[in-house]
Amino acid sequence: MQSKIPIGILGATGIVGQRFVQMLEHHPWFEVAWLAASDRSEGRTYAEAVRWRLRTAIPERVAKMTVSPAKPEGAPKVIFAALDAAIAAELEPRFAEAGCAVVSNSSALRMAPDVPLVIPEVNAGHIKLIETQAWRKKSGGFVVTNPNCSAIGLVLALAPLEQHFGLETVMAVTMQAVSGAGYPGVASLDILGNVIPYIAKEEEKMEEETLKLLGRLNGSRVLPGNFTVSAQCNRVAVEDGHTESVSVRLRKKASAEEIQSAWRTFTAEPQKLRLPSAPDQPVMYVDAADRPQPRFDAERGAGMTTTVGRLRPCKVLEWKFTVLSHNTIRGAAGAALLNAELLKAQGCLG
Ligand SMILES: NC(=O)c1ccc[n+]([C@@H]2O[C@H](COP(=O)([O-])OP(=O)(O)OC[C@H]3O[C@@H](n4cnc5c(N)ncnc54)[C@H](OP(=O)(O)O)[C@@H]3O)[C@@H](O)[C@H]2O)c1
Repeated sequence: MQSKIPIGILGATGIVGQRFVQMLEHHPWFEVAWLAASDRSEGRTYAEAVRWRLRTAIPERVAKMTVSPAKPEGAPKVIFAALDAAIAAELEPRFAEAGCAVVSNSSALRMAPDVPLVIPEVNAGHIKLIETQAWRKKSGGFVVTNPNCSAIGLVLALAPLEQHFGLETVMAVTMQAVSGAGYPGVASLDILGNVIPYIAKEEEKMEEETLKLLGRLNGSRVLPGNFTVSAQCNRVAVEDGHTESVSVRLRKKASAEEIQSAWRTFTAEPQKLRLPSAPDQPVMYVDAADRPQPRFDAERGAGMTTTVGRLRPCKVLEWKFTVLSHNTIRGAAGAALLNAELLKAQGCLG
């Protein structure tokens, strides 16, 4: 039997770091070998350092591991990073420079022209951008990123529409779960019985990342998608799962049946390659009039399937519908894990 690839997790004690630990417990290719967080956690066992927020138990082997300093010395060559953007901006380049493959969740480097921003079902070919990175040429290291947790659900729903009919205009209003703000996140007194109509920098991220993800790789740069996007983001008192009300104008006329069929038949590279974390169906359309709902639909496809429903005509644009995706799985740890599986399948993990 082939041995597994050792993985390091930067930001292992946070909400996304915990999802990494959970999702890697029985992974067929990867194994947690190193954990790092802030100096608050350094030197403690993982069980002591973490405020574990998931319903499954901390894997026993990981619970006993000691949290290392967040430095590349002694770290494995494949790093899953779940750090706040300001810290990621400083640490991720340091790990890439030291020869590590950094698979990042943070927004710090997502829009850098030489850093691939990837959803394997949508733009797997953009991974090639790593070959243009200075780190890659010098030490073999590189950085690959996955999108913001709201952009990913939106783009998975839009990609089949762009493929079949072309997009002209997109408007999205989000209702985002509290786990999206990390731990401890939003104070309970601010969010209980309330809606907060502002999430710092979220609307900008959704708008620019959507265009990069649905853009075209042209040599060493990505030409952004040729459509307009407007996003409005709200925080709501839901634990997990971001819901989005979306309206679109398409370039080609399409019937409701044709649009639903584009979603239902959407399949791509990860499904063909049978990557371990790829859902059978990346996008699922549900017919029930009152779905999708976070409570019932966020965990479809082990949290990796984006659920779409309520397709109907829009009097302002052309069509409107509802999108739901799990923010800490498809929107964070699962997205990075699928990127790492794609990198391995493409021979980029050594
Ligand atoms: N939550 C989501 O749904 C979601 C979705 C997509 C993307 N993201 C992105 O993923 C990243 C992590 O988010 P999160 O929700 O997991 O945040 P979080 O719960 O606040 O966790 C932050 C992690 O970073 C560590 N850390 C803090 N300062 C550090 C330092 N100076 N050096 C090294 N490690 C440090 C923390 O360690 P200590 O425990 O030791 O303080 C903790 O492990 C963010 O960039 C976020 O925007 C989050």
